Amino acid sequence: MDRVEKILLILMLGMSTSSFADVNLVKDKQCMQCHDVTAERIGPSFQRIAKRWKGNPVAEQLLMSTIQQGTQDGGGQHWSSKANMPNSQERPLVSNDEAKRIVKWIMGLSV
Ligand code: HEC
Repeated sequence: MDRVEKILLILMLGMSTSSFADVNLVKDKQCMQCHDVTAERIGPSFQRIAKRWKGNPVAEQLLMSTIQQGTQDGGGQHWSSKANMPNSQERPLVSNDEAKRIVKWIMGLSV
């Protein structure tokens, strides 16, 4: 392996371990109780969310606030679901940093 190949390999490993860590973060925060990456559950699939908000300049701010505070105190209702996303009293707390990482992870799922 030459130097460039080594650097590429390290970069690839780095990227895959970080997105792996983000999946675990989403699982730890119990998001998967209501969401799935591809399937519609109580909440919209993360892929559909990514597609809807891709390229929207307010997406990061808005999704972070919903992730941290739920539908009503956060970004508001955007899907025709009957359910709301509950606020942080009924879910594990998500810090700013964690919310940012989760939004990045979701947006990366857009196909
Ligand atoms: C108790 C069920 C439940 C849990 C737990 C839950 N969600 Fe949701 N989520 C929903 C529902 C229902 C909606 C759709 C609300 C609406 O109609 O706007 C939603 C919407 C969203 C949206 C889209 C917001 C928008 O305005 O487009 C994101 C992003 C999201 N959830 C991320 C998460 C993350 C990340 C977690 C874990 C920290 C999580 N959710 C946990 C039920 C849940």
